[in-house]
Amino acid sequence: MSASEPQEDSVEAAFRTTFDRKLLPRLLKLAAPYSKFVAGALVVLFLESLVQLAGPLLTAAAIDLVLTPGAGAASGSNVLVGKVLALFGATGDKPLALVVLSLLYAASAALAFGFTALLVNFTSRMGQGVMFDLRTKIFGHLMKTDVAVYDKTPVGRLMTRLTTDVDALNELFTSGFVALLGDVAILAGIVVVLFLMNPPLAFVTFAVLVPMVFVTNWFRKGARDTYRDVRIRIASVNSFLQEHLSGISVVQLFRREKKALDDFGKVNDEHRKANVESIFYYSVFYPALDSLSAVGMAAIVLFGGFQVIEGAMTVGAVVAFLQYSKRFYRPLMDLSEKYNILQAAMASSERIFQLLDTAPTITAPEKPVALARPVQGDVLFTDVKFGYKPDEPVLKGVSFHVPAGQTFALVGATGSGKSTLLNLLLRFYDVTSGSVKVDGHDVRSLDPRDLRSPFGIVLQDPFLFTGTLAENVAFFDPSMSRERIQNACLEVGLGPLLARLPDGLDTKLGERGGGLSAGEKQLVSLARALAQDPRILILDEATSSVDPETEALIERAIEKLLSGRTSLVVAHRLSTIVRADRILVLSQGTMREAGTHAELLAKGGLYARLYALQRKDAEAA
Ligand SMILES: Nc1ncnc2c1ncn2[C@@H]1O[C@H](COP(=O)(O)OP(=O)(O)OP(=O)(O)O)[C@@H](O)[C@H]1O
Ligand SMILES: [Mg+2]
Repeated sequence: MSASEPQEDSVEAAFRTTFDRKLLPRLLKLAAPYSKFVAGALVVLFLESLVQLAGPLLTAAAIDLVLTPGAGAASGSNVLVGKVLALFGATGDKPLALVVLSLLYAASAALAFGFTALLVNFTSRMGQGVMFDLRTKIFGHLMKTDVAVYDKTPVGRLMTRLTTDVDALNELFTSGFVALLGDVAILAGIVVVLFLMNPPLAFVTFAVLVPMVFVTNWFRKGARDTYRDVRIRIASVNSFLQEHLSGISVVQLFRREKKALDDFGKVNDEHRKANVESIFYYSVFYPALDSLSAVGMAAIVLFGGFQVIEGAMTVGAVVAFLQYSKRFYRPLMDLSEKYNILQAAMASSERIFQLLDTAPTITAPEKPVALARPVQGDVLFTDVKFGYKPDEPVLKGVSFHVPAGQTFALVGATGSGKSTLLNLLLRFYDVTSGSVKVDGHDVRSLDPRDLRSPFGIVLQDPFLFTGTLAENVAFFDPSMSRERIQNACLEVGLGPLLARLPDGLDTKLGERGGGLSAGEKQLVSLARALAQDPRILILDEATSSVDPETEALIERAIEKLLSGRTSLVVAHRLSTIVRADRILVLSQGTMREAGTHAELLAKGGLYARLYALQRKDAEAA
C-alpha cells in the first residue's frame, strides 16, 4: 500500500517556468476590468513613497536647523526644508520651527498610514475580483469540457487549478505586482535623494549591495530548491492521507493500521526534513542581511563622521543617511522573497491558461441542424467503430436501428461495450468511423444541447447532488411543478420512503445522495427520468443487487418508464430483457446476435447460453 506518487513533474515544471513574455499580457488582461483600482493603487503608491522619503529629511532638518549649535547650516536637502519653514514664518524662531517640524513629521506618518490602508484596499479588491472572475471562468470552462478530458485528468488536479493555483495568482496581484512596484519606487527615490545629498557617501552606502546581492542569490536558489522539495513532500503527505482516510475500512479490515502508521511516519518525516532544510536558508539569510546592513551603517557613520569633522557635511545629513539606508535594505530583502512568490504564481497562471486553452471538441457545428419537434426518437447506428484510446478499439463496427417508440435491450458480458454505445448516442464521445443518427440526423450535425434535450438518462451509478429530494427529482429545474415531482415519486414506488422521511420531498440529501440506500438512490434516479417524460430513454441498469421488495419496485418503475417512448436499455434484469421488442447481444465490441427473446432462445447461441446461466443463478439464489 504505497501513497500515490506526488505530481513531481508538475512541480518541476512550475519552477522551470520563469517570467514568460506571453503570460504577462494575459495576466494584465485579467486585471483590465479593475483598471480603476490599479490606477488608484499606483497613484497612492507614488504618494506613499514621497511621504516615506520625507521622514528622514525632516529629522535631518530638526537636527541641523534647530538642535545643532550654530544652526542654520543649509546642506543640500535642508534648503528645501528651510523653505518650508519660511512658509510658516519659523525661520528664525527655533521653538516654533521645532513644533512645525514635529507636526510635519506626525502628519507624514498619518498620511503614510492613510495611503497604506488605501493601497491595501485597492489591491485586495483587484485581487479578489480577478480571483472571482478566474474561478467563474475556469468552472464555466470545465462545464463545457469533453468528458474524455476527465478520463485522463484526475479530478483532484482540476480542483487544484481552481483553488491553489488561483490563490497563487491572488498573491501575484495583491502582494506581488503592486508591492514590487512600491519597493522599486522607494528604492529609486532613496537612490536619488542620497545622491543629491552627498554622492561620495551614497557610494559608500550602496557598496554593501555587492555582498548583499551574492547572499540574496545564494538564498534565492537554496530557498527555491527547498521550497520545491517541501511542496513535493506535502503533496505526498496529502495523497497518503487522502488514500488512507477514504479507504479506512479496508485498512481496518486488513488490519494494516500499524503498517499504515509506519508508512505515514516515513512521508511525514521527509516533510519535516524538507522544512528544516528550508528553514536553514531563512535562518541564515535574514541575519546575514541584517549584519550586512549594520556594516553599511557603520561605514556611513565612519565616512560621514569624517566629513562632519571636516565640515563637509552636517550631523543631520548623516542621520538622514542612516535612516535612509535602513529603509533601503528592507525592500531589498522583501524583493528576494517576493521573487519566489512571483515565480510560483507564474507557474500557476501557466497551468490555468493551459486548462482554459484546451478547447472542447464535442461542440456544435457552425450551422447546426435543429432537431424537429416533436422528436420521434428514431435511433440508427451504422458501422460504428470507436475506441477510448486510438490503438484499443472498443466497438468494431456496430450497426442497428431502433424504430421510434420501441424498446431495445443491450446485453453482453462486462466490458463488451454497452455503456460505450450509450456514450456515443449521447455524444459524450465522437465515433472514430461510421455514424450515429437520431431522427435521421447525424449527432455531429446537431448542437449537443439540442441533441441531449429529448433524452432521459438513468445511469449505471445513480448520481444525486446535494439538495432536497424534490430538487434531485426535478434535477434543479425550478419550472417543474411540485405535483409532477410528487407523482413521479409515487409512480416509481417512493411513497413509503416519503412517508417515513420527516421532511418528505424536502428532505435534504448529502453529497452524492448521502442518507439514502443504494436501492432508494436507484428509485430516485428513475423518478427523475420519469418526471422529465423524455422522448428517448437511456437506461443503464445497475448490477448491484437490492432486496426482493425493492427489486420488485424497481422492475415496476422501469416498466412504467419504458412504455410509450423509444428506449435503449443496457439490461441485466430478465424481466426487462424479455419484455424488449428486440435484444442486441454484444460481444467484444461486435454485435453477435439480434432478435426477440424467443427467437434468440430458439437459435441456441450466445444469448441462449447467457440466459441459461442467469436462470441457474436465479434458481440457486
Ligand atoms: N473512459 C474510458 N477510458 C478508457 N477505456 C474505457 C473507458 N470506459 C470504458 N472503457 C473500456 O471500454 C470497454 C467497454 O466498456 P463499457 O463501459 O462500454 O463496458 P460495458 O459493456 O458497459 O460493461 P459493464 O457491463 O461492466 O458496464 C472496456 O474494456 C473498458 O475497459
Ligand atoms: Mg456499463
